[in-house]
Amino acid sequence: MNVQTLPAEKGNFNLKDYEKTVENFDWTEIEKEFSWYETGKVNLAHEAIDRFADDSEKKNQVALYYSDANRDEQYTFEDMKKLSNKAANTLKDAGIQKGDRVFIFMPRSPELYFAIFGAIKIGAIVGPLFEAFMEGAVRDRLEDSDAKSIVTTPTLLERVPVDDLPQLDTVFIMGEDVKEEGPYYDFKSRLDKSSEEFDVEWVDREDGLILHYTSGSTGKPKGVLHVHNAMIQHYQTAKWVLDLQEGDVYWCTADPGWVTGTSYGIFGPWLTGTTNVVRGGRFSPQDWYETLQRFKVTVWYSAPTAFRMLMSAGDEVVKNYDLSNLRHILSVGEPLNPEVVMWGEKVFNLRIHDTWWMTETGAMMICNYPSMAIKAGSMGKPIPGVKAAIVDDQGNELPPHRMGNLAIDKGWPSMMRTIWNNEEKFNSYFELDGWYVSGDSAYMDEDGYFWFQGRIDDVIMTAGERVGPFEVESKLLEHPAVTEAGVIGKPDPVRGEIIKAFVSLRDGEEVTEDLKEDIRTFVKKGLSAHAAPRELEFRDKLPKTRSGKIMRRVLKAWELDLPTGDLSTMDD
Ligand code: PRX
Repeated sequence: MNVQTLPAEKGNFNLKDYEKTVENFDWTEIEKEFSWYETGKVNLAHEAIDRFADDSEKKNQVALYYSDANRDEQYTFEDMKKLSNKAANTLKDAGIQKGDRVFIFMPRSPELYFAIFGAIKIGAIVGPLFEAFMEGAVRDRLEDSDAKSIVTTPTLLERVPVDDLPQLDTVFIMGEDVKEEGPYYDFKSRLDKSSEEFDVEWVDREDGLILHYTSGSTGKPKGVLHVHNAMIQHYQTAKWVLDLQEGDVYWCTADPGWVTGTSYGIFGPWLTGTTNVVRGGRFSPQDWYETLQRFKVTVWYSAPTAFRMLMSAGDEVVKNYDLSNLRHILSVGEPLNPEVVMWGEKVFNLRIHDTWWMTETGAMMICNYPSMAIKAGSMGKPIPGVKAAIVDDQGNELPPHRMGNLAIDKGWPSMMRTIWNNEEKFNSYFELDGWYVSGDSAYMDEDGYFWFQGRIDDVIMTAGERVGPFEVESKLLEHPAVTEAGVIGKPDPVRGEIIKAFVSLRDGEEVTEDLKEDIRTFVKKGLSAHAAPRELEFRDKLPKTRSGKIMRRVLKAWELDLPTGDLSTMDD
């Protein structure tokens, strides 16, 4: 294979001898940054906001530039402290306590960030929900986690089945003239009235911080629990990999409903005292370039699908903008094609640095740093303090260039601590001789660079978002016309994969455009827009095992015109 290598550059991670750093690296050195090193207690919100607000040199620095079509605001670290204190008081006065699950279900807005920090300040566990979630997706998450509270807007409230969730006794609504009765609280007027002073709840480093629901290949979405201790790795990777330095203006394009939007849209940048840009609204190339230009963004973290969409908008568009402040670009979520890396070189005159990690790992694991040569198409190398390997199905480490399971040795600071209510699922990640098994397949080359090959399970990554085929299949089966459904990821040049559903219909049903649209809308309304199949194909029967399990691998083979492999377990 012809690998294009882009030479190393300067950055925070200026360690010449990479191997030596990896071996000698000790995470406890990083702990000295934070309060618990002295007091034994900590709170991420203090470390990310208050300690800068209490520092005379940092307090007037802009912490958040927020803009969308209707709002254009900025907040200093001092403002962020006061406003998140108000949110903390609002939650606490309504009876929310340490350890309670508080969901945040709002479109991006400054109040979303105050609410998240407010919840963290009282020691609650934050459950961020993507604003596109429909009722079924919201219900699953609130039910599974026994959520006590949710902060939402009047529009999104329609998708919260409050009456069916007896544990959910405190529903904050961020709107105008909210009537307070029963479980409903007026978030805005309570915020306005509450005090700017708050004593944060000092918690243990192993206390719960955030619960991100994510998809696997079977079952409902699972709640991945992270604890305050994760901040060590958020902080250190923000330094090493995001390369954040004094004076930087940073923009992470991910929504806080996903892990990238919290670990690196909130925690990483603010733990390092960096000015953070949040842009609400939908993607458009003009809007994105305008955001980079207007805020003089220096460090930009985005995803392959977005880069490919910018690429397909053409190189003429980007020439209309002054992006001269930009010095560092990174990517996450899906394979970053060499082609996109070379496009980045051409239009930004910068390398795009790929990073690999997962909801479960909590923070970056395998990365390209400024100070290392990039091999276009490779995810990079494990960061110091992380041991990654390629292992076979028995857990034996494989030599370079052998493809196998991408696995990590336990013990990195931001590792998930459990799967909520499902210890068995949690344990199943460690079945291969104690390795954390990612579910990705990859190989390592002779220089220790890791190369992504695919998912081992059937999980779909569409436009950087993780979708479980089982969830979509279950929803399809609820449609009155559908008797069988099998869902796969179909390769797509822009989105990485799109969702394709194979469906068989009840006797007497006919395939019409209306029916297709109806099925798509049904999934969209039941789950969310990104989970709705872009393609539907109708078959009289779907391939199943004798035990009745849909054989997605056969569907995939049909789709890609590949041999179907061993069919001995197939029901005839
Ligand atoms: O398959 C890998 C893919 O995204 C999965 C994790 O998805 P999620 O938990 O939603 O987190 C995404 C963002 C942290 C992984 O198992 N993935 C993530 N980064 C990369 C990637 N695939 C290829 N290259 C990457 N850099």
